[in-house]
Amino acid sequence: MSDKLIIFDTTLRDGEQSPGASMTKDEKLRIARQLERLKVDVIEAGFAASSNGDFESVQLIANSIKDSTICSLSRANDRDISRAAEALKGANSARIHTFIATSPLHMEKKLRMTPDQVFEQAKQSVRFARNLVSDVEFSPEDGYRSDVDFLCRVLEAVIAEGATTINVPDTVGYAIPELYGNFIKTLRERIPNSDKVIWSVHCHNDLGMAVANSLAGVKIGGARQVECTINGLGERAGNCSLEEVVMAVKTRRDYFNLDLGIDTQHILAVSRMVSQTTGFVVQPNKAVVGANAFAHASGIHQDGVLKARDTYEIMRAQDVGWSANKIVLGKLSGRNAFKKRLQELGVQLESEGDVNAAFARFKELADRKSDIFDEDILALVGDESVTHITEQYGYVSLSQRSETGERPVATIVFTVDGKEVTETSEGNGPVDASLKAIEMHVKSGAEMVLYSVNAISGSTESQGEVTVRLQNSGRVVNGVGSDPDIVVASAKAYLSALNKLLSKSDRVAAQG
Ligand code: KIV
Ligand code: ZN
Repeated sequence: MSDKLIIFDTTLRDGEQSPGASMTKDEKLRIARQLERLKVDVIEAGFAASSNGDFESVQLIANSIKDSTICSLSRANDRDISRAAEALKGANSARIHTFIATSPLHMEKKLRMTPDQVFEQAKQSVRFARNLVSDVEFSPEDGYRSDVDFLCRVLEAVIAEGATTINVPDTVGYAIPELYGNFIKTLRERIPNSDKVIWSVHCHNDLGMAVANSLAGVKIGGARQVECTINGLGERAGNCSLEEVVMAVKTRRDYFNLDLGIDTQHILAVSRMVSQTTGFVVQPNKAVVGANAFAHASGIHQDGVLKARDTYEIMRAQDVGWSANKIVLGKLSGRNAFKKRLQELGVQLESEGDVNAAFARFKELADRKSDIFDEDILALVGDESVTHITEQYGYVSLSQRSETGERPVATIVFTVDGKEVTETSEGNGPVDASLKAIEMHVKSGAEMVLYSVNAISGSTESQGEVTVRLQNSGRVVNGVGSDPDIVVASAKAYLSALNKLLSKSDRVAAQG
């Protein structure tokens, strides 16, 4: 007999809390569509009460996604819970996820509340949420570092109030697999009404054990929901990675004996979409989705794999979507093939006019680059000419001159609120000169904390994808730009980061 493991994806909420990973509403919807194609059971779409932007994102996703349960996080108070319920109104299946910290450290230093006050607030919040929706998840934040007797008291009470899922976060990534697994087991054994709920694990990766801890929570503790993010995105060292936990349970079904609803063939596409959208590049040796995950360099390994794949491979690359991501389109591809690929990538453009604009950009790119990969298509649909998102700064054109022994000079034309400006600057290199030319006009004063260039696909013909991370007045944002010319890609990334710095609204932190 096997039972089902529920996959709860929190890329759009906990993942987005990663500094610089903030996403626009449209980007979130696009990722949510991919998560739906992946057949994720629950999508945590955001934290509705944290900002108007988050409210609108949760609402948009709740109104658009039909096959997954849509969840909003909320602190344990009536205002947050009502906002979450309001944002979720259009969902086919809605869940409110409410939380309050229960560890001595968090209660005393952060909340400045007594354990009895926390107990009452937890109970009353779950009761309030259950009057609004039938599916209520409760998380004792920093649960793993909480006093077990107190935790049992709180969890028993919230289950009695009607919580349907109990999630036990290892908020700071302090757990060790065996200990975390036993912790969940103890809670389930000691709480008299524990059989009324689904038990869930939520592990952070500070010691690199988020996946191992989650799996121990499932195997030893009997949890039947795992909270995770695509590429392990998340605050600090991130969250439990969806692709790793899913492939572990699938590959080692002999050990876990659990069913999954996930359609794993879409894993790679969503991993790439999240990486491109946030600018968080996936390391080449990352399990399942890294560029080298199925590459065999040594002669002995290559020979073995050619003779029998399973000599060195425990999973099939195509099962996670690798073969579906071969070269797709080129210069001679027509509009229909392009449109079909967009659909396969989960990209829904608003109108035929938008498809035409995207197709025109595609043709332009195909003139400069013979093979167009999925990543190229995803990059171009984010382009302003396709999204119609009017941003303060827009790229127009760039020219630069660099010669051995001479200081490079760049001239950039860009728009500021629709008006073209031209600036010229010298720099240490062409990229430096271009960004200095932008900064001459913009005077943002932002500090660049990261600049990285990544080849979208593996050759010199590839588009360069540049990520620029800027920091200003405590805000951190990532801008991503792509172009076959990396100087142009850098300028686009810089302008995109400036736009985000301007637009990012203040929001309440989930663990603040
Ligand atoms: O890590 C954590 O404790 C959380 C909660 C808000 C569930 O993300
Ligand atoms: Zn978390």
